[in-house]
Amino acid sequence: MARGRFITFEGGEGAGKSTQVRRLVARLDAAGIEVVATREPGGSPGAEAIRALVLTGSADRWSPITETLLMYGARRDHIERTITPALERGAWVVCDRFADSTRAYQGGAGDVAPELIAALETHVLGTVRPDLTLVFDLPVDVGLARAEVHAKASGHAETRFESKGLAFHERLRTAFRQIAAAEPERCVLVDAAGTIETVESDVWTAVSDRLHPHG
Ligand code: TMP
Repeated sequence: MARGRFITFEGGEGAGKSTQVRRLVARLDAAGIEVVATREPGGSPGAEAIRALVLTGSADRWSPITETLLMYGARRDHIERTITPALERGAWVVCDRFADSTRAYQGGAGDVAPELIAALETHVLGTVRPDLTLVFDLPVDVGLARAEVHAKASGHAETRFESKGLAFHERLRTAFRQIAAAEPERCVLVDAAGTIETVESDVWTAVSDRLHPHG
């Protein structure tokens, strides 16, 4: 059985990633592919417990370095228990956020040294790297307004990260755009300002062109 493909969705707040993960999963499913949809931080029982710790509380509850270590603790458990077993049995894994979020949130916007993050990638991720990363790009004010509407509609308070200031989110956007520009063989920048249907079609074009889900 050939190893499955690993697709990640990345971007700032309110970019619509979760909706698009669901739509892509439905399309891959219709193409007859076994798909595992998952998210970070989270995606395994241990990592979901860490998620609850890291996303709740005041914005300064954890320093960026502590966040980095918590994210990587969660990520390692997620890889061991969910991602690697799925890829090895030939399933495709579609993940809402992965290692680029640590580079952008804790590194680009939080000032954690790139050397620490690179060392964690080497030793904790090992060979588990995305085959394709869709980087959702959106003006910061549009994203934060969408995230606020979503938080109200779902009855959830904003997360620690949504409550960080505008300057933090501008740095975040820059960091994600730099990642996409630096690794064009892995990343596709998606204009997330369009309608759900337009974005869905852009995502499907990228997946079809790069990973050939129809064989
Ligand atoms: P989300 O499920 O709404 O995307 O929330 C996850 C939050 O966690 C989001 O604000 C980004 C943040 N995050 C990091 O700061 N670093 C990471 O490595 C990951 C995976 C998420």
